[in-house]
Order: sequence, then C-alpha cells, then structure tokens
Amino acid sequence: MINIIGIEHVAIAANRSEKSRFFFEKILGIDFINSESIDEQGVITEIFDAKNGKIELLKPINNESKISNFLKKRGAGLHHICFEVENIVESIAHLKNNNIELIGDNYSIGAEGYKVVFIHPKSTGGILVELAEK
Ligand code: CO
Repeated sequence: MINIIGIEHVAIAANRSEKSRFFFEKILGIDFINSESIDEQGVITEIFDAKNGKIELLKPINNESKISNFLKKRGAGLHHICFEVENIVESIAHLKNNNIELIGDNYSIGAEGYKVVFIHPKSTGGILVELAEK
C-alpha cells in the first residue's frame, strides 16, 4: 500500500538562486525556511514555505554534481516533485511489487532529515518523483 498525504515540495534546479530567492521572498512574500548543504549529492538546498507545500531550490556545490549536469543538459527548471507518504517502507514495497524502478534499493536520509526515495523517470513518464516520510 502507498498512502500519499500531499505534495511535500517541488524542487527546482536553479542557476541564479539569488534572483529566485528575491522573487519568492520579497515579491511573493513566501517565507524562506532554511538552507542546507547535502554534500554527498553535491547540492545546496534553499527551502521556502508556500503554506501547503514547499519550494526547494537546488544549487550545485561544484561542477561534478548531478545538479550541475542537470543544469548543463536541461537548464533551470523543474527537477523533481516530492510527495509525502505515511510509510516509506510500505511505499517502497508497493512500488517494487509493481515493477517500478527506484534509484537505489532503499530509502535514504534526505533534506530536513526525512526518509526519502527517488523513483526513476523511466517508470513515471519522464518525471523524477521523490517520496518522503517525515
Ligand atoms: Co526533494
């Protein structure tokens, strides 16, 4: 079984996050929550609270990171969408039972300390999807 609680965040690859941050904070009045450096993914996140879901800007730490490759290939824009689930272990079992391809075999600890798993775009029609349990 998989039980989606809601959209946890929408993640956007950003080359010029200062401009996006200014727009979200100063123009739209969306609160900036925090920034985190996730070294093993080579990414810096800037998280904003859009009330019924968050926006996560992703900036590369260096030229070798996945986000850096993504930006080179596809430019700034939607990187992934993250759904909050009730139980990540049950969700992973459900996906595997349905032959959905995951990136990695199990959940890992992602931004904000959540248990997260990514689903391969091959299995979703081209959209990188993340599931997170708080
Ligand atoms: Co995410």
